[in-house]
Amino acid sequence: MTAFEPLADLADLPEGALLAVRSSAGEAICLANVKGRVSALVDCCTHAEFPLSDGVIHADGTVECVWHGARFDCATGAVCKGPAVDGVVAYDVRVEGGKILVGPRRPIGAEAAR
Ligand code: FES
Repeated sequence: MTAFEPLADLADLPEGALLAVRSSAGEAICLANVKGRVSALVDCCTHAEFPLSDGVIHADGTVECVWHGARFDCATGAVCKGPAVDGVVAYDVRVEGGKILVGPRRPIGAEAAR
């Protein structure tokens, strides 16, 4: 995915929520809203491929995979707690006109440009 495309309404992603969406290219993406900051990760835990969108957001800005408890930084995809070893890929995100637009993938662990 190289261009930004609208994948959800902001109204469908309240603070503290996760939402599974799919890009027009078929990529499964997990949207997260951490204290009003929206981010997007590949919707697949790197430990054993459980959907992160079925997980839980914690106050420290991490998403916990509910299968074995790995945690990833919602903003960067970096691993914060095992058993996962590898981070998950994050996407650039914009919120415009009440829509969540997801764009290109970022290098693992990279912060979004601000
Ligand atoms: S599949 Fe996510 S922690 Fe095991």
